[in-house]
Amino acid sequence: MSASEHPDAWRLVDEGWGRRAADFATLAEPSNCREYVAVHRHLDVGAGTRLLDVACGSGLALELARACGATVAGIDASARLLAVARHRNPDADLAVGDMHHLPWDDGAFDVVTSFRGFWGTTPDALTEAWRVLAPAGRLGFTVWGHIKASEGAWALSPFRLASEPKVANQAAMVALGRPGAGEDLLDRTGFVHIRRVTIPMAWEFADPASYARGLASMGPSYEAIQTVGEDAFMEYAHEVASARVRDGLPLRATLDVVGYLADKPAAPPCSPSGFLAVPDTTEELQRSYEHDVETIGFVMNASRAWAHSPDVHDALFGLLDRVARSCSLTFRQRGILVTACASAHGDSYCSLAWGLKLATHSGPDVAAGVLRGDDTELDAKERALATWARRVAGDPNGTVAEDLDDLRAAGYDDAAILAITTFVALRIAYSTINGALGVHPDRELADAPRPVVDAVRWGRPIVQCT
Ligand SMILES: C[S@@+](CC[C@H](N)C(=O)[O-])C[C@H]1O[C@@H](n2cnc3c(N)ncnc32)[C@H](O)[C@@H]1O
Repeated sequence: MSASEHPDAWRLVDEGWGRRAADFATLAEPSNCREYVAVHRHLDVGAGTRLLDVACGSGLALELARACGATVAGIDASARLLAVARHRNPDADLAVGDMHHLPWDDGAFDVVTSFRGFWGTTPDALTEAWRVLAPAGRLGFTVWGHIKASEGAWALSPFRLASEPKVANQAAMVALGRPGAGEDLLDRTGFVHIRRVTIPMAWEFADPASYARGLASMGPSYEAIQTVGEDAFMEYAHEVASARVRDGLPLRATLDVVGYLADKPAAPPCSPSGFLAVPDTTEELQRSYEHDVETIGFVMNASRAWAHSPDVHDALFGLLDRVARSCSLTFRQRGILVTACASAHGDSYCSLAWGLKLATHSGPDVAAGVLRGDDTELDAKERALATWARRVAGDPNGTVAEDLDDLRAAGYDDAAILAITTFVALRIAYSTINGALGVHPDRELADAPRPVVDAVRWGRPIVQCT
């Protein structure tokens, strides 16, 4: 059973992987040092690197990373393997647990490794690795490659004594090594600079007996032992190894291992006022910024974004004001129109800014309700305005004449309906320009009433730049 099938499946891992922890640590794991060194070199592990090894087993990879100067953390589902890792790395931050739920903060590591710990059956574990990597952090992990074509394929052949479903699951696990499989998964998870590299791997054992004992310490062997029994497993392992004995040399099995390397994207430069450079402050701009401070207490990101054309900005708002006056919209009605069309358009900035204004004027429940599309706090006239604003923002070419019935019933004549529609369309134009140019809501809007902040689940987030 895989962790994706049952959230507690990882708790069963120790039964197979932990039962011969000392054998694994001394007879099996040391051969893997070749892949550890290769991956650490690819990831530039060195002094000060904050490294996490996922499915760290008995911790030899961690010990080697520490030898390069890294500060290390590790997690493994097997308590007994992790006890060996602790013994080897007493100062490391080690946890018994599931790689799908890492007990570390977002962005805690520069490097995440996993040596045959991520599989085709554990795609979500990569999402966790992504989470704990810092921006521009480096990921490196290995999986079995084309084992059948490996000179040392014989060394893994006893795993196939397991029951048919277990062997099928082993195949699904190693499918991550197929050309394109890891690349696709990494790409879908959000990694960049994805590379596939060849990793050196050779298992060496002194003789068939130590090979059989080392192999028996591994999880897949336990699956085989459960099927054929310990004696039959050991006998078979001994037999396949005996055929490879060469005088004076250790048994050696070279195995195809694939390495995947990838980076988490670097954090974008923090510019809440959007993608355009903010021009030097002229006297005119200074006046516009001061006007913001006098009226709302801070300079709006939108004012900086529009700093190339403050005159166009003012003309747009002059026109909005003129149109609103022409149909006698009250402040509350303007607030309803803006919050309704901004939310339907997916613009978080105007939703929050006008959600705050409407909340201050009419209460947070009215504002949050309109933002969520719940107009129960509105009267019939206001409901007609909100409904029309959402219609114009959502599907202006799908309207029908009957959509105007409620506005007419509310007392609006054709001239007023044209003005209301113009008002909404101009607000959508303003939202579109801000959204397209990457303008984020002002961080001060995070202090808007909770129901308003909680209602806005769309658009660009509020960003805090340090
Ligand atoms: C092939 S071994 C690799 C161990 C170690 N990385 C090495 O290089 O020898 C797979 C490891 O994954 C661990 N493991 C399996 N499922 C896990 C899970 N859901 N969370 C964390 N570790 C897991 C096992 O206990 C085992 O140590």
